[in-house]
Parts: sequence; C-alpha cells; structure tokens
Amino acid sequence: MKIRALTPADRLWVSEAVSRHFASTRIVSRGVLHDCSELTGLAAVRGVTPCGVLLYAIHEGECEVVVLLSLARRIGVAAALLASVRRVARAAGCRRLWLITTNDNQAAIDFYSSRGWSLKAVHRNAVSEARRIKPELPLFGHNGVPIRDELEFELLLDTA
Ligand SMILES: CC(C)(COP(=O)(O)OP(=O)(O)OC[C@H]1O[C@@H](n2cnc3c(N)ncnc32)[C@H](O)[C@@H]1OP(=O)(O)O)[C@@H](O)C(=O)NCCC(=O)NCCS
Repeated sequence: MKIRALTPADRLWVSEAVSRHFASTRIVSRGVLHDCSELTGLAAVRGVTPCGVLLYAIHEGECEVVVLLSLARRIGVAAALLASVRRVARAAGCRRLWLITTNDNQAAIDFYSSRGWSLKAVHRNAVSEARRIKPELPLFGHNGVPIRDELEFELLLDTA
C-alpha cells in the first residue's frame, strides 16, 4: 500500500466514496460546512486501486481531519493515512490534530483511541445543529443508534 497526495484525477472516486459513506460530499464539523471537492487530501492506493482517503484542513496551527474513509477494512489503511497526515501537520508547524466523529460510530471511537488520540470534548446535541446545515444527515447510525453528539478527538504534536 502506498500513501500519496490526492490529484485532480482522484476527485471523482473520492466524491463517490464520501457521498456513499457520509450521505453527501458536504461535511459539517463544529458548525462549519466543508465541501470535500475543495479539501486537500491523501489517497491510499494498492497498485492503481484506491483503498482509502483522508481529507484535511489546516487553520491557525491546527490540522483538522475532516474525512477519513477506509475502503479495505482492518488491514491498516486508516492507520497509514493517519500516520501520513501527522507528518504533513508536523511539517506545516501544527501543534494539534483534531477531528469530529459521532456518538454512534464505535468503530471510529475504537480506532482513534487505539492510535493514541484522546477524547477532548463531547459536544452534546451538536448533530441536531449540524442538520440545519446538512439536512441529509441521517437520524440513526451504526446499529440503529441515534446520531446526536459530536465527539472531538485530538492528538497533540510535539513541535520541539
Ligand atoms: C474507522 C475506520 C476509518 C478504520 O479504518 P481501517 O482501515 O479499518 O482501520 P485500520 O485497519 O488502520 O485499524 C487500525 C486499528 O484500529 C482499531 N480498529 C479499526 N477498526 C476497528 C473497529 N471496527 N472496531 C474496533 N477497533 C477498530 C484496531 O485496533 C485496528 O487494529 P487491528 O486491526 O490490528 O486490530 C473505518 O472503519 C472506516 O472507514 N469507517 C467508515 C468511515 C468512518 O466512520 N470514518 C471515521 C469517521 S471520522
């Protein structure tokens, strides 16, 4: 598996994959709407076949992972993408990586916890607010759990 920067040629499969998993290419985190077609990102590929994508946004010394999606589970795709964005963020002088997932997404919660990320905050009922911006957000997620809260995970980077 190889991790590389996204190119314009990746945009179509990225949009399709993000739409399939996140209901559209519009992602809302902490009340901010992100258009995935405009975000910088990394692709995981095996040969020429895409197996994962990570989209990120760097702002004021912090790097937000806006989308992380593995198309081939439990073989280290997401872990490799996360390790790469960590290097990108460090090179850009960021102090912190952060991201939002939702209370229903136990796989993501386990994944980030297993990679050394910390739960920084639980933003209660934030998804209800996000639905005003992104009405296509489903009401129920994994295992029929109501999607309600935004969970903010972070990884502090040693900039020394
Ligand atoms: C969460 C997600 C990104 C993990 O991707 P992945 O490529 O399967 O993860 P990796 O193979 O790199 O997993 C690394 C480790 O994370 C943990 N982990 C990953 N998926 C897990 C799961 N479903 N349940 C429990 N632990 C999990 C394990 O410790 C795993 O190591 P192991 O397989 O040796 O046990 C993937 O399930 C996914 O794309 N989900 C849909 C999109 C999504 O929810 N993205 C995150 C929202 S912000």
